[in-house]
Amino acid sequence: MRLAGKVALITGAARGIGRGIALKFAQEGAKVGVLDVDELDSQGVVNDIVIEGGEGLALGADVTDPAQVLEAVRWLTLKFGPPTILVNNAAVMPSGRLHETSVEDFDRCLAVNLRGTYLVSRAVIPGMIDAGGGSIIHMSSVTGLRGLPGLAAYSATKGALIALARAMSTDYAPHGIRVNALAPGTIDSPMLHDFVAKQTDKARVRRQFDAMHPIGRVGTIEEVANVCLFLASDEASFVTGSTYSVDGGLSAKGEQPQD
Ligand SMILES: NC(=O)c1ccc[n+]([C@@H]2O[C@H](COP(=O)([O-])OP(=O)(O)OC[C@H]3O[C@@H](n4cnc5c(N)ncnc54)[C@H](O)[C@@H]3O)[C@@H](O)[C@H]2O)c1
Repeated sequence: MRLAGKVALITGAARGIGRGIALKFAQEGAKVGVLDVDELDSQGVVNDIVIEGGEGLALGADVTDPAQVLEAVRWLTLKFGPPTILVNNAAVMPSGRLHETSVEDFDRCLAVNLRGTYLVSRAVIPGMIDAGGGSIIHMSSVTGLRGLPGLAAYSATKGALIALARAMSTDYAPHGIRVNALAPGTIDSPMLHDFVAKQTDKARVRRQFDAMHPIGRVGTIEEVANVCLFLASDEASFVTGSTYSVDGGLSAKGEQPQD
């Protein structure tokens, strides 16, 4: 019960990594706001939380819409009190090199991944300040630290989230609010399954993902949720402005010299 009595807001929590974090936080005693554009699946996650004896609230909202974000935070605050844990996890991942990325895809990617993080943080921070502190986690990616091919727009947003976490950590440390970033490698998630399903040689692509990580496999949602739990909890009370890699060594790896 490492989050007993706390209120947490997780964006993009209807599936995948966000869902795993929402379930983990609820198991640790937090009351969880499950925010997603997909309201039906958000309610499904809340049902799963309740079945396990926890408490949650489904919040159907688009993180790119300032009014919807404010309304969602207002509902959560009315139901459980102001959130003192926020995980900015909602994201979209258009693929392609820069000149192949449409203006619409580029704008949407920045709107969800970066501007959405700004809008949700902005809506939550006044309540956190009044409460005397909190923990904010931006979900970045190994692509925010290292160049990987075919992910120009996505990588730009994930790098920006790391810079944003650092900047915010300096602004809000005096208020007891810690701000960190998490940078997962490839994770066994619906996003990965969708990608692999579109490939011709699915088994080979999947093997390549596993082999890319020095640990020899992709990560699990649980492994990301565990580190997120640490950053959200008081155990990380001296950790702010940091980026935690959860990538099986991918970002640490150098190139093997070839003959
Ligand atoms: N899966 C991976 O391998 C991996 C690796 C590194 C980082 N990440 C990051 O982890 C996070 C979660 O990834 P995932 O694999 O679970 O993705 P996912 O696509 O399965 O889930 C993303 C969720 O965000 C929601 N969402 C999208 N746009 C939204 C919006 N405008 N407003 C509200 N909700 C919105 C979607 O409905 C979905 O439920 C993302 O930030 C992603 O960039 C994932």
